[in-house]
Amino acid sequence: MRHEELDPGHEPGRREIVMITEWHEHIRKAYGSAIGRSRRELITPALIMDLDVVRRNIKFMTERLSTLPARLRPHVKCQKNTELARLQVDAGAIGVCTATVWEAIVMSRAGIKDVLIANQVGGCEKIAALAREAKHGYLTVAVDNPKNARDISAAVQEAGSKLDVLIEVDVGMGRGGVRSAKEAVTLAQHLARLPGLRLRGVQGYEGHCMLEPDQAVRIQKATAAMDFLGTVINSLSAAGFPCEVVSSGGTGTYDITGNNPRVTEIQAGSYVFMDNFHGSLVPGFSKALTVLGTVVIQHGNTIVLDSGRKSIGIDFVLPTMADYPFYQARYFAEEHALFDVDERCGLKLGDTVELVPGYAPTTVNLYDAYHVVEKDVVVDIWPIIPRGPGHGGILAG
Ligand SMILES: Cc1ncc(COP(=O)(O)O)c(C=O)c1O
Repeated sequence: MRHEELDPGHEPGRREIVMITEWHEHIRKAYGSAIGRSRRELITPALIMDLDVVRRNIKFMTERLSTLPARLRPHVKCQKNTELARLQVDAGAIGVCTATVWEAIVMSRAGIKDVLIANQVGGCEKIAALAREAKHGYLTVAVDNPKNARDISAAVQEAGSKLDVLIEVDVGMGRGGVRSAKEAVTLAQHLARLPGLRLRGVQGYEGHCMLEPDQAVRIQKATAAMDFLGTVINSLSAAGFPCEVVSSGGTGTYDITGNNPRVTEIQAGSYVFMDNFHGSLVPGFSKALTVLGTVVIQHGNTIVLDSGRKSIGIDFVLPTMADYPFYQARYFAEEHALFDVDERCGLKLGDTVELVPGYAPTTVNLYDAYHVVEKDVVVDIWPIIPRGPGHGGILAG
C-alpha cells in the first residue's frame, strides 16, 4: 500500500504543504534578522546547527550502513525538522520514524513518503488524527495491545483509510512491546481479523543497550536482544505471519544491530547531531548542534551563562563548553549555567560561548528554530516541529 495507491487522484500533499510552508515562513520571519550574522553574534540562548557537520554525519552514516544488511530509517524525534529529513532521504534513507503522531503528520505533509510512528498512539483524538492522515500519506504505526489495535481499526474505518502496523516486541527495555512470542502470535491473529490494518512485521527497540558505555557489553546485550526478537519472528512466521519489516536500533547500536541479517531497518536519529551522551558511545560522527550562551555573571573564578536547562538538554550527561571541554559544569539552573574556571578560560562578562548539549533530543524541543550555519555564518532558519497539534493546521484534517 503506497501513498499513490491510497488516493490516486490526490496530488501528494498539495494543500498540506501550503500549511506547513506558512508555518515555516512565520518562523523564518521571526528569526530572519539573524541570517548573515556570525554564529558568535546571535541573540542568546540560540540553537545553532552546523550544516557542514550535519552533511558529514549523514554521509558517514550512509557509507557505514551501505556496508551492512540493514537500511536506514532515521528517527526524527531528535531533530524535529523536515529539511533535515529531506537531506536524509535524499542520501538514501527509506523514510523516517517519529515518536509522536504530530511529528508523523508534519513529516508526511512535507512530502516524506514512508513514515513509521515508532511508538503506540493512544487517546481517541490522536488515533483519529492518525487515521485521517493515513488517507493522504503512507503511515505505519507500532502496536502492542489488542484494544489499542481495535481502536485504530475503528478509526481508519471511520476515516475511510488504511494503516500498516508493526507489532512492537519488548527486547529488554521493559517499555512498550509484547513480552513473549506467544503474545505476539495472539496479537497477530487478532490483527488479522481487524479491518483496515495490515501487519508488516515487528519493531524491537533495544533502548536499554544505548545506555551501556562498555562496547563489548553493549554488543553482547544488543545481540541477545536481537536473538530474542529472532525467536519471536520465527514464531510469527510459523503461525503464518512472515515479517517483511524488522525495525530496530539506535545511534548507540546502529553498527551492531545493523549488521544482523534479520534486521531490515535501523532507527538511529541522534547521529545527525551527536551530543555528549551519544558522542561517548560511537566514534566517527562530529558535534553539529550547539547552544550559544552569553556570560551574564562573573564572580572570581565563577562564570554564569544565560543558558540553563530551559535552553539545553542535560539528560544522562552534562553539557560542556565547546572551546573548553575540560570544565565540568557545577550546576544547570533553569536559566543559568554555572562553571568554575581557571586561568585557561579567556571568557569575560558579555562574551559568548557555545555549549554542546548533554542530550540533543531534549535540547531541540526547547526552541522554535535552528540557526543554520555554513562556514560559521547563519545562512538559513529552519523551524522545529512544536509539540502537540496547535500549529500548521494539523487538526483541520
Ligand atoms: C523507538 C526508538 N527507536 C530508536 C531510537 C533511537 O534514537 P537515537 O538514535 O536518537 O538514540 C529511540 C530513542 O529514543 C526510540 O525511542
